[in-house]
Amino acid sequence: MKRMVRTVQELSAEEKLRLICGKDFWHTDDLGGKIPQITVADGPSGLRIVKERAEDGSETAYPAAAYPAISLLANTWNRAAAAEMGECLADECLEKDVDILLAPGVNIKRHPLNGRNFEYFSEDPVLAGEMAKAYIGGLQGGGVGACLKHFCCNNLEYDRLNQSSEVDERTLRELYYLPFEIACQAQPVSLMCSYNRINGTFGAEYAKGFALLRGEFGFRGAIVSDWSAVRDRTASAAAGLDLEMPFNGENYRKLCEDYRRGALSDAALDACAQRVLDLVYRCKEMRQGKKPARTDKERRAAARRIAAEGMVLLKNNGVLPLQAGGSAALSGCYARPDSCGMLRGGGSSAVNRGEEKFDLPARLAERGTEARYEGAFRFDEVESFGQSARRAALLAAECDCSIVCVGLGEKFEREGADRETARLPAVQERAILESAKSNPNTVVVVFAGSYIDMSAWEEKAAAILFAGYPGTGGDDALADILVGKVNPSGKLSETFPRCLADVPAADGRCVSAGVTRYTEGLGVGYRCFSTNDVPVLFPFGHGLSYSVFAYSDLSASAEGGALHISFAVENASERSGAETVQVYVRECVPLVSRPDRELKDFAKAEIAAGKRKRFSFSLGQRAFAHWSASKDCWEVSDGVYEVLIGSSAQDIRLRCKLCIKNGEILLR
Ligand code: BGC
Repeated sequence: MKRMVRTVQELSAEEKLRLICGKDFWHTDDLGGKIPQITVADGPSGLRIVKERAEDGSETAYPAAAYPAISLLANTWNRAAAAEMGECLADECLEKDVDILLAPGVNIKRHPLNGRNFEYFSEDPVLAGEMAKAYIGGLQGGGVGACLKHFCCNNLEYDRLNQSSEVDERTLRELYYLPFEIACQAQPVSLMCSYNRINGTFGAEYAKGFALLRGEFGFRGAIVSDWSAVRDRTASAAAGLDLEMPFNGENYRKLCEDYRRGALSDAALDACAQRVLDLVYRCKEMRQGKKPARTDKERRAAARRIAAEGMVLLKNNGVLPLQAGGSAALSGCYARPDSCGMLRGGGSSAVNRGEEKFDLPARLAERGTEARYEGAFRFDEVESFGQSARRAALLAAECDCSIVCVGLGEKFEREGADRETARLPAVQERAILESAKSNPNTVVVVFAGSYIDMSAWEEKAAAILFAGYPGTGGDDALADILVGKVNPSGKLSETFPRCLADVPAADGRCVSAGVTRYTEGLGVGYRCFSTNDVPVLFPFGHGLSYSVFAYSDLSASAEGGALHISFAVENASERSGAETVQVYVRECVPLVSRPDRELKDFAKAEIAAGKRKRFSFSLGQRAFAHWSASKDCWEVSDGVYEVLIGSSAQDIRLRCKLCIKNGEILLR
């Protein structure tokens, strides 16, 4: 066998320049067969292998299984579910010869209208980082490389190729870098820069951030550009961006010229080229001997299970689960969509589901519900309200309950643009209100990838189930929850405020020409609402179950500079169910301004009816630290702290106080 090149010393300058520029849209250069080539493809919620690219840039992908959107996966709060989704995707990649899946993205949901929120995990960095870490572990354990993205501060799609996110260092450390820092513990083979600028510097040239990744966060992979994010290949290589994707002839020619005239050092070129070489071999070694661990059928079953686990029961006055054998009026095009674009966000993550169908009325009928369907409104309708809507209201009046299926989809949520409003289209809000007038047992099922302003109709709904974008088997998953075959256990990974105006980042004044000022600092999501006592509709971490959980018996001890806590949760109901417990920390009288509470850890467990389960956590010094802007390091102030154990950020069930002095934890 031909000996493969492994080090840059074996390459000419020209080969190194070629190597750091990618070959085409989805491959690295194999230097005429001297090294293996790697293939990349989009995720994060299914495999998108592009079949054709039209002149206008639009792409057609091969059909593939769809997994829940990342926003729905995050609502599971279950690391094992994230790992399983990664494992399934690894299998898909192995079958299709893909070496790197361009996923997952961990950008913080700073603004509820960000067009890509459905692709991201959370407003909270610990939840986002931990779930991404598990997903990467599953994917890479299955033999396929991950590409953690988009580093960093790409929190709006508005003018994303030019905007500069202006963020102070402490906020970067505590909010925007942190999910990357945590996810890097899983050693992703690659990381993708963002399109935007960070404090004036393009993501592709963000040397300071790259140094931090490699120096402090232990990242040992290659840094890849977002697609066409490179303006100046020389400057980006000097900054430490290893691989430009896709190949860009003009950038390449300019890079060669710059190199010839000495504008790019050999040391910088070698460093990038070596990291691309290492990436190629790491990917090949990672997949050596790996075979798909699950069949297609098993993977689709996993997608369905994860979807069911991520759906969040936001409100329930007792109408759910549905009475066995009862009748249900179903309305809204989302109940039986004619295109899968209605059940996903748009852009590079959009999976082509081929012939797959989603049919909630049919799935409910299979489970013994007399399900009667009337469309009421269509995906392309925003304002009008027609005859079908009136028929739906009539049907609602005739049945035991009415299930109105509303939502967004790729028309409203997509890469490259932000949502214009947090409200549902007027026609959908009206359909809910009409249904509620006809039948007080109105259940609203929401298909969306992000926050919806429900103020116009929330009070009128008897139950609200946030179904997200569920993917393959989503209709079965949803029907199982509605009839009570599956006990809901999803919890919100982002706050649902009462209205958009309550969100500091939504303040238009933060955006000036070319600059988005993160003036709210750490005031993102529940950090802002709990600190300022702003009432919200549904808090971060909220989600109902058909079971009832009681928390008790908190015990705490301090050892080796860490706090160890444990407590019991009892399922005080006759139904088995899963509970997610959340551990928040607050500093009671801080010397620097701090959010009122911050999530530090979480766990989810099945608890059988009538049984108890103990949860244990250890919180090290970092759990109590803030980033000191004056000392440029993490610092734990001497002071009094409280650990809050919650079923949501606002439903705190247990608390314990402690003092910290010179790093020593003293219990009170
Ligand atoms: C997106 C990336 C994606 C890439 C390749 C870009 O537009 O921002 O997330 O991986 O395209 O499709």
